[in-house]
Parts: sequence; C-alpha cells; structure tokens
Amino acid sequence: MEVLICMILLLSLDVKSTLVKSQRPLMVIAGRGAAAAVSVQVTLPPVASPLQNQLIFADQSLFHANSNNFSGTIPGNIVKLPYLYELDISNNRFSGPFPTAILAMDGLSFLDIRYNFFSGSVPPELFAKDLDALFLNNNNFMTRLPDDIGATHVEYLTLANNKFFGPIPRGIAKALSGLSEILLLDNMLSGCLPYELGLLKEAVVFDAGNNNLTGPLPFSLGCLEKLEVLNFAGNLLYGSIPDVLCGLTNLMNLSLSDNYLTQAGPSCMRLIKNGVLDVRKNCIPGRPFQRSVAECAAFFARPRNCPYMDTYSKVPCWLPNSVLQLLNWLLHLLNHSLEMIVVEFQLLNYK
Ligand SMILES: *[C@@H]1O[C@H](CO)[C@@H](O)[C@H](O)[C@H]1NC(C)=O
Ligand SMILES: *[C@@H]1O[C@H](CO)[C@@H](O)[C@H](O)[C@H]1NC(C)=O
Ligand SMILES: *[C@@H]1O[C@H](CO)[C@@H](O)[C@H](O)[C@H]1NC(C)=O
Ligand SMILES: *[C@@H]1O[C@H](CO)[C@@H](O)[C@H](O)[C@H]1NC(C)=O
Repeated sequence: MEVLICMILLLSLDVKSTLVKSQRPLMVIAGRGAAAAVSVQVTLPPVASPLQNQLIFADQSLFHANSNNFSGTIPGNIVKLPYLYELDISNNRFSGPFPTAILAMDGLSFLDIRYNFFSGSVPPELFAKDLDALFLNNNNFMTRLPDDIGATHVEYLTLANNKFFGPIPRGIAKALSGLSEILLLDNMLSGCLPYELGLLKEAVVFDAGNNNLTGPLPFSLGCLEKLEVLNFAGNLLYGSIPDVLCGLTNLMNLSLSDNYLTQAGPSCMRLIKNGVLDVRKNCIPGRPFQRSVAECAAFFARPRNCPYMDTYSKVPCWLPNSVLQLLNWLLHLLNHSLEMIVVEFQLLNYK
C-alpha cells in the first residue's frame, strides 16, 4: 500500500500562494482532482486508500493531500510534524469525528478539511486556534457554534453545508474581528441575528443563506463598509430592511429573498431596480413576487421576539446626516410592536 510522496523544494502554488510564508521543504500528495493546489508529477495513489501512519516527517511546513480519494481516519501522529502550518486534506473520503490531533498542532495557520465525510461535533478549541483560514465546509458536522467562540485571526471561515445549529454567537465580532469571508450557508442555524455582526469591519462576503435564522436585520449591518456580498436568503427574517444597509457603496449582491421582510426604504428600492437586491418571496406590500397575504399573516400570527431588541436599531459607526434622518424614521418603525407592523402591512395590502 504505497502512497507517493514528493519532496519538493519550491513549488508554484496557485490559490493558496498568498498564505505561504516560507520556503521550507514541502510535502505534497497531489491527486488527479482539479482542485489540487500544486502541479507535480505523481503516481496516483490507490483508490480509497487509508492515509498510512508512516507519514511522519520532521521538517514539513505544508501538507497538501487534496483530491486523492483517501479514506479512513487521520493518523494521530500527524501532530508530530512540528513546523506544519498548512494542512489540506480536502476532497477525500475521510470520515469519523473531527481529527482532534490537529488541535495540538501549534504552528498551524491554514486548515482545509472540506469535502470529506467527517461528522459529529467540532471541538470549541478549534475556534481558539490562531488560524488564518479554516475550511470545514461540505462535511457532516453537527454542532453548535461555541458562545465563547475564542479569538482567532481567521480571515476565511467556511462552515457551509454541514449541520451547524444554534444561534450565531454574539461573541463573533470580538473573537473574529479580522473575518473577511464568512460562509455559513446551508446549515441549521437558528435564533436572532446578533447586533454584533455589524462589528465585523473587514467582512467582504457574509453568506448565511438557507438556515433558520430569524428576527430583524440589525441596523449595525450598515457599518460593514467593505461588504460586497450579503446573503440571508431562505431564512425566517422579518421587519424592515435597514436602509443604511442598502446604502453601502460596495454592495454587489444583497440576497434577502425567501424571508418575511415587510418593508424596503428608498435606498433599498434603488438596489432592487439595479438588480443588486433580491427581495422576492417576502411580505413587502406592493412588490411583485411576494408571499401570499395568508402565508405572511400565518407567520406573524405567532408571537416573535428577540432578546436585546434595543440593539437592533443601534448603529455603531458614523453615517452621513441624510442617512441618519432616514434611520430615525426606520428606528421609529422598528420600535412599534410587531403587531403594529403587521397591521400596517395588512392595511396597506387591502387598500
Ligand atoms: C473513490 O472511492 C470510492 C469508494 O471508496 C469509489 O466508489 C470511487 O469511484 C472512487 N473515486 C475515484 C475518483 O477514484
Ligand atoms: C427550520 O425549522 C423547521 C421547524 O423547526 C424545520 O422543520 C426545518 O427543517 C428547519 N430547517 C433548517 C434548514 O434547519
Ligand atoms: C447573488 O447571491 C445569491 C445567493 O448566493 C445567488 O443565488 C445569486 O445568483 C447571486 N446573484 C448574482 C447576480 O450574482
Ligand atoms: C421606543 O419605545 C419606548 C417605549 O415604548 C420609548 O420609551 C422609547 O423612547 C422609544 N424609542 C424610540 C427611538 O422611539
């Protein structure tokens, strides 16, 4: 059972090249998949082979073994690679629980185990590691995001397509202030959006589509000046779309379809016209392609509440004056009880 190992001094890495920090010897087990990070001459490993325990090397800094159809579990002695700072075993058939041996790897800054069959919970300690990039997407992890999510410098956090449940923790911004890309889509996250999302100053892409998130959209989202893509489609959000959010100048794709939102202000209307904002399948009176009145009424017939309601109208950044006026108006709306909003909605609709 032979796994081909190539020891190469300098390789031209593609996408991950920005993360390469030194030119240490590099071990690559590259496969036939298009996603393989390096182009090297390799003999294809046996199909669906376990990664053997003999893979112990003293001076490795990068370990890429993506797209090889490796199966089984990760050998615990991988931690004996003392200088390893990139571990990529994506696109294989690894299974079993999260390989906790990884937690003991001190220098690790890039961890990619996406597209495998790992299951069970993710140890909270992982989120406290000093990683730049963490890719866990497309596995079967079923776990709650820890309330105290730790404090990493992670820039790319990808948890999509698993079964993460529970709320997005309020500690997210404090812990992960350097986050640039956050992909939480296609999980089972629930609960209200925390106001603290608006403190993720570096966020460029935030995707939490197809979950069970609820509550209003916090106005604080209007502070994410770098934001280009925001996706909350396919959730249970309600209330008005903060016009400050629609005023963000870098937004290219704001997907809010398939929720229970009830109002869009002037800036949002502009974005709808531009094709940036998608509000189909909501409860916005006068817009085309909305849910039926009966469907909206049924949703709002159940009492809906979020903790910390006062935080939803807080804007933790400076905004131009004109926007502030609009903000006050929306704030006033938000302060109405939910029934009032529903009544308004129904009145508008039956006019
Ligand atoms: C990967 O392994 C599985 C069985 O474990 C096999 O069915 C599949 O064909 C293999 N894929 C490739 C690309 O070799
Ligand atoms: C959302 O919640 C409903 C009801 O609790 C449940 O039936 C549904 O499967 C959940 N969807 C997701 C994506 O978690
Ligand atoms: C915007 O994002 C949504 C959700 O990810 C996606 O379905 C849609 O295709 C995107 N629209 C454009 C124009 O890129
Ligand atoms: C919201 O309502 C509460 C009580 O109903 C009131 O004390 C508060 O001043 C209101 N805030 C705004 C911004 O209208």
